[in-house]
Amino acid sequence: MIKIKNSKEIEKMKKAGKLAAQVLDFIKPYIKVGVSTGELNKLCHDFIIKNKAIPAPLNYQGFPASICTSVNDVVCHGIPSFEDVLKNKDIVNVDITVILNGYHGDTSRTFMVGDVDKEVEDLVERTEQAMYKGIEVIMPGIYLYEVGRAIEKYIKDFLYSVVRDYGGHGIGKGFHEDPNVLHYYSLENKIKLREGMIFTVEPMINQGSSYEVITSREDGWTVTTKNGSLSAQFEHTVLVTKDSYEILTKS
Ligand code: MF3
Ligand code: CO
Ligand code: CO
Repeated sequence: MIKIKNSKEIEKMKKAGKLAAQVLDFIKPYIKVGVSTGELNKLCHDFIIKNKAIPAPLNYQGFPASICTSVNDVVCHGIPSFEDVLKNKDIVNVDITVILNGYHGDTSRTFMVGDVDKEVEDLVERTEQAMYKGIEVIMPGIYLYEVGRAIEKYIKDFLYSVVRDYGGHGIGKGFHEDPNVLHYYSLENKIKLREGMIFTVEPMINQGSSYEVITSREDGWTVTTKNGSLSAQFEHTVLVTKDSYEILTKS
């Protein structure tokens, strides 16, 4: 069941989305060679608490930290650690979800550490572009599968693949609500969009031809590419408006 948000709820979602984006803006200057993902987690946690919000990942289905930090071949759900120190040429996705006054805001960006190779920079920039291609088709009356279709259409010119095992999601009072937003074309997403729906668009794009991923059997969370290739991701929370869309997690 997809919930339609009323104007009061939309106001709260705008505030939560804005705070989530502010956390990313806040953490950006700390993402440098030598910083640990554990330190990034601590800094974000304290910033979120100071702003009277709750870090949604903490204890969510047993997740042990306040943010996700996914480095290089980690696709998503990386667990921050003080042992995990960023080095030159790394890429790291920082995924922030806050709960403010009972409503969630969810956004992530992939940051480049030091001087990354040109092909890695391309992967990161095109993944952000892919997210925007998916967002830009959003309006009432279209089918949700247009989002995945636009992402795939953009990505097909490159030797990349779109991760299939994880998608975007409806969001509101719940962290993960209906619908499941696929980042590739599928009739599973033959769902008509209506004004007041709010969901995330958060494509994970792997370098190379394999979209396959595996989940760590040690921690039960860390998702990596199966073949060790790099993976990038960007995420926004998006509202369907009267005739278009609005990004609620803009920087
Ligand atoms: N923020 C992630 C998303 O975009 C979900 C993280 S779940 C966690 O949906 F438990 F790993 F935090
Ligand atoms: Co999300
Ligand atoms: Co997220």
